Amino acid sequence: MKKTKKDKNIILTKSFVFNTRRLIIRPYLISDFNSWKEAHQNMLSPQTPFDWAHAFLKTQAHRRKFVSMVKTHQQKRVGPTNYTFAVFKKITGELVGEVSMVDASRGGSMSASCGYLIFNNHWRQGYGLEALRGLIDIAFNKLALHRLEAYIEVKNRGSQKLAKMAEFRKEGIAKKRLFFKGAWNDVFVYALTCEDIGIKNVRPITYSIPNG
Ligand SMILES: CC(C)(COP(=O)(O)OP(=O)(O)OC[C@H]1O[C@@H](n2cnc3c(N)ncnc32)[C@H](O)[C@@H]1OP(=O)(O)O)[C@@H](O)C(=O)NCCC(=O)NCCS
Repeated sequence: MKKTKKDKNIILTKSFVFNTRRLIIRPYLISDFNSWKEAHQNMLSPQTPFDWAHAFLKTQAHRRKFVSMVKTHQQKRVGPTNYTFAVFKKITGELVGEVSMVDASRGGSMSASCGYLIFNNHWRQGYGLEALRGLIDIAFNKLALHRLEAYIEVKNRGSQKLAKMAEFRKEGIAKKRLFFKGAWNDVFVYALTCEDIGIKNVRPITYSIPNG
């Protein structure tokens, strides 16, 4: 991957590049455009109603949109309350998906909610679970958060199974919590705290981290 001039403006600190067994998880660079475009072009037709990578139609994968998306991710990271990480296969360098954390709050909460997406031509090969575990590692070991939540659509069984496999607890239902498909929808609340994976003594702090 060759960095472009615009990438100079994106500080890709070492602290924001994460490795799992098969994957590299890091913020997008402008020079990832071709990978991003190919990932959208290689997708199969939508496989489930929740296959939301299709929100960007194949024909809409334009460079201008990608640059604007990456800049938005960058601005949001400065908060730092929102993080989006691209997920690449180590061996081929292929982009297989994204993981994210939004609404990260410190102080007395130290929590964030997470999202994950694997492009559907890579489903059921364990990448979702591996990337989610990578995100959990980032949340607790890197960002020192205490709690990670996932708000999952009631009918999205695949995502619920994945959350369960990553040790998330199903805690209940949040009424009209998320706006999608033109309406406020009920979602299941799944959550994991750092104690669940053996990390103790996280204290409420005002946490300062470098920009990714
Ligand atoms: C949910 C998603 C990330 C799973 O990605 P993935 O790479 O296929 O997940 P994995 O291969 O790691 O699957 C792990 C387990 O999750 C479960 N699972 C994943 N997809 C499933 C599906 N469509 N139906 C039922 N179970 C599913 C299975 O138990 C699977 O293990 P198995 O293949 O050994 O049976 C992917 O389907 C996706 O991107 N969906 C669209 C976006 C989305 O729903 N995001 C979550 C929003 S809350």
